[in-house]
Amino acid sequence: MAIDYASKIPNNVDLASNKALQRALEQWQPRYLDWWRDVGPEGSALRDVYLRTAVSVDAKGWAHFDYVKMPDYRWGIFLAPPEANRKIAFGTHQGQPVWNEVPGEYRSTLRRIIVTQGDTEPASVEQQRHLGRTCPSLYDLRNLYQVNVEEGRHLWAMVYLLHAYFGRDGREEGEALLERRSGDPDKPRILGAFNEQTPDWLSFFMFTFLTDRDGKYQLAALAESGFDPLARSTRFMLTEEAHHLFVGESGIARVIQRTLEVMKELNTDEPARVRGAGAIDLPTLQRYLNFHFSVTLDLYGSEVSTNAAAFYSAGLKGRFEEEKISDDHLLADSTYDVPVVEGARIATRAEKAQLALNERLRDDYIADCQAGVDRWNKLIERAGIGQRLTLPHKGFHRRIGTFADALVSPTGAVLDTTAWRAGERDWLPSGDDRGFVQGLMKPVTKPGQFAGWIAPPRVGINGQPVGFEYVRFD
Ligand SMILES: [Fe+2]
Ligand SMILES: [Fe+2]
Repeated sequence: MAIDYASKIPNNVDLASNKALQRALEQWQPRYLDWWRDVGPEGSALRDVYLRTAVSVDAKGWAHFDYVKMPDYRWGIFLAPPEANRKIAFGTHQGQPVWNEVPGEYRSTLRRIIVTQGDTEPASVEQQRHLGRTCPSLYDLRNLYQVNVEEGRHLWAMVYLLHAYFGRDGREEGEALLERRSGDPDKPRILGAFNEQTPDWLSFFMFTFLTDRDGKYQLAALAESGFDPLARSTRFMLTEEAHHLFVGESGIARVIQRTLEVMKELNTDEPARVRGAGAIDLPTLQRYLNFHFSVTLDLYGSEVSTNAAAFYSAGLKGRFEEEKISDDHLLADSTYDVPVVEGARIATRAEKAQLALNERLRDDYIADCQAGVDRWNKLIERAGIGQRLTLPHKGFHRRIGTFADALVSPTGAVLDTTAWRAGERDWLPSGDDRGFVQGLMKPVTKPGQFAGWIAPPRVGINGQPVGFEYVRFD
């Protein structure tokens, strides 16, 4: 599984032996670069960035670090090595050998799944494109750029599948992935959360903690796929994704740490005084958390979904860690609890497990988010401060599924419009909150220096010191 870096498109899929495919991808490559120049990281083209590049798909030691100008980054096609004799682990084809070609009957479903995943990758690059202007440090700027180039590579991963396995339709989808734009009313990205703005670094850290984590769960479900090229693509994407989640969790932890320092210094928990000292008060952090968590929960779709059931029984998309679960992997007779709004209360109803797969994946995701929030709360607790951050109720501020028509408070109370309006200011970021956070966003670009609203990390990247010159400006 050595990576061929000599060809125009680095790959470990022996692209050189398939000339037609190689040519098609080589035609897509300049269009991808045009897209990167147009809507990729603003003003970044001439900077030398200390980036990691995949040099192998081996779980240990796959990455190489060096200075790269981002337009010269070697985006390529890297699949995890095939597992010998891998069998389909779930659904009606359970026990049969995995597919290395697209089964005709699932062609359009599979294409839709790949396009939907692929569309999120360039979307997040577009959402984050202005952040380089206001980086809190060179360390953070480098992490932003690392996330950006890898999301670009994830687009490559999905476009490879489209080109290699879906013929002309696939090539057309590859073009369309470069044409849609995050937040564009005429040609928006497919999923709602990927059309929201990421206007400041607090939003960026929330996004990488919460929305990249949705990526992790979707990719993990696709890594179980009976269509082996998709499983192998997403498996390698997951190794890259882990860093994105680290950026988010540690980013928020450093914001909290700085806030706690200010609270202790001033001996106050008054938001106005914390803000006056240039840190972000905990209630504002909570409101950002509420917002990003709720829009990300919508990405899992409706609680009850015949599509999800069809993907599962066809063996195309599994559960999180499907192969570690001990049951029949058919879910023909089992049930799963889904929430329902009954007048003024929220209850649960046992639904056929196959139909409730979206809800199950959402619940797995929520548990993972909660573990991160618990680690943040440990920092607050250790500082001797009584406040805590919490994930809002999953019905809070939702637009898709059971809760779309309900007004639910963060603690799970079903509200009328008056009560919602009265509480909204405390629950979601206001214009004033966003303005305050925006006001803190002043670029810090001297090695080793950090903006006043965020603590430095404990260690640098790849064993380098925190004060390393992670990005060299032109
Ligand atoms: Fe990604
Ligand atoms: Fe990511």
